[in-house]
Amino acid sequence: MRAYRAKVVEPIHLPDRDEREANIEEAGYNVFNLDSEDVFIDLLTDSGTGTMSDEQWAAMMRGDEAYAGSDSFKRLQESVADVMGFENIVPAHQGRGAENVLYGVLVSEGDYVPNNTHFDTTRAHVVNNGGQPVDCPVDVAPDDPFQGNLDPEKVRELADEVGAENIPALVVTITNNSMAGQPVSVQNLRDAREVADEIDATFVIDACRFAENAYFVQQREAEFEGSSVAAIAREELSYADAIVMSGKKDALSNIGGFVGVRDDELFEHAKQRGILYEGFSTYGGLSGRDLEAMAVGLREAVTQPYIESRVEQVAELGDLLLDADVPIYAPTGGHAVYVKAEEFLPNIPREQFPGQVLVGELYREGGVRAVELGEFAFPGEDRPQLVRLCLPRRTYFREHLEHIAETFEKVGERRDELSGLEIVWEPPMEELRHFSAKLEPV
Ligand code: F0G
Repeated sequence: MRAYRAKVVEPIHLPDRDEREANIEEAGYNVFNLDSEDVFIDLLTDSGTGTMSDEQWAAMMRGDEAYAGSDSFKRLQESVADVMGFENIVPAHQGRGAENVLYGVLVSEGDYVPNNTHFDTTRAHVVNNGGQPVDCPVDVAPDDPFQGNLDPEKVRELADEVGAENIPALVVTITNNSMAGQPVSVQNLRDAREVADEIDATFVIDACRFAENAYFVQQREAEFEGSSVAAIAREELSYADAIVMSGKKDALSNIGGFVGVRDDELFEHAKQRGILYEGFSTYGGLSGRDLEAMAVGLREAVTQPYIESRVEQVAELGDLLLDADVPIYAPTGGHAVYVKAEEFLPNIPREQFPGQVLVGELYREGGVRAVELGEFAFPGEDRPQLVRLCLPRRTYFREHLEHIAETFEKVGERRDELSGLEIVWEPPMEELRHFSAKLEPV
């Protein structure tokens, strides 16, 4: 059951089939090039696209737009201290701004940074500072309840190989976005803390989806049965020396982010770098009203009715897709359902981007916008060809989920007629190609 009702609405529109055909062709079969007004259901990301509450909108009116010493900043500080247990924060315009602040201070040329699995922007910031990102995920069994976990042994092996002195930081991303949004257990965070101590590394948690992770812990980790999500959220983050946060996820806001640190010296360094890149340390590239929205959103994110309806809605979409015989990564993660495109469209070879073909067809059939995470987004990487269906927070209803499942059924009925895609234009940086490249049917 959704734990909210609509108070403000935004009309959405399904263009007719001819228009959709023309739009996707004109977009070069790349949904990043579509106008949002032409998208009926937008599952591109859960980042900054959710619906704010009446309390958040009310708080925004109170935004103190002072350059220094803003009251709104103090309210954000209090909220982060209460909800996440960090007293020292450096605000930033969004998650990657926070990553730039923290990793710019921690990582230097020749360093190695292990992570359960790096999210793209995290990887890019490690590389940008001269470091080498190393993924250390657990080898998962299908029935493992915490498939997002870090493998601490892989971190020890890396330290033996490259020298612990060359590993300034160990990162754990909760939930693990690049591993189908799967959760990390509190026990695994304790194990990560232990390794970080052994190798004398700063233990960083990428906390973007910390509340969703806490809900999975409540449901799946025996020790925490009956604990509140708010208490689990504080427990998970208590093991970290620092956190990086995108307010666009579990702070339920449209923009914003921050770094949280415990060590005073690290805090001072991060603050100085924040001033250089983001703005003075009581606004960090944001308006006072944006700080207010995060301050309220963080508190809402760890309430049981909210988080339960959030994560269970993702599971509900997963169930509807399974009923429609769509192969998905199961169990579903916290923010998205991941579809196995090669199984859904077995006739399209990997070089012809089965995931991107599926993304284009979802738009053509139902005005649904998803994102490919396979050969098109990550050229030459040996990884499964996935399509991510992200649910924005507090935004869609059961009927929208049913429309998504029906759209998949329609694409499935035409699977034998579909052809692959080839790239006809791409930007100079291959890593960024999926944002703007253009394709054509083979
Ligand atoms: N870390 C993780 C785990 C993320 O998922 C993201 C963003 C970031 C950092 C960067 O935050 O966007 O505020 O700069 N993920 C979005 C997504 C973009 O669609 O998964 P940001």
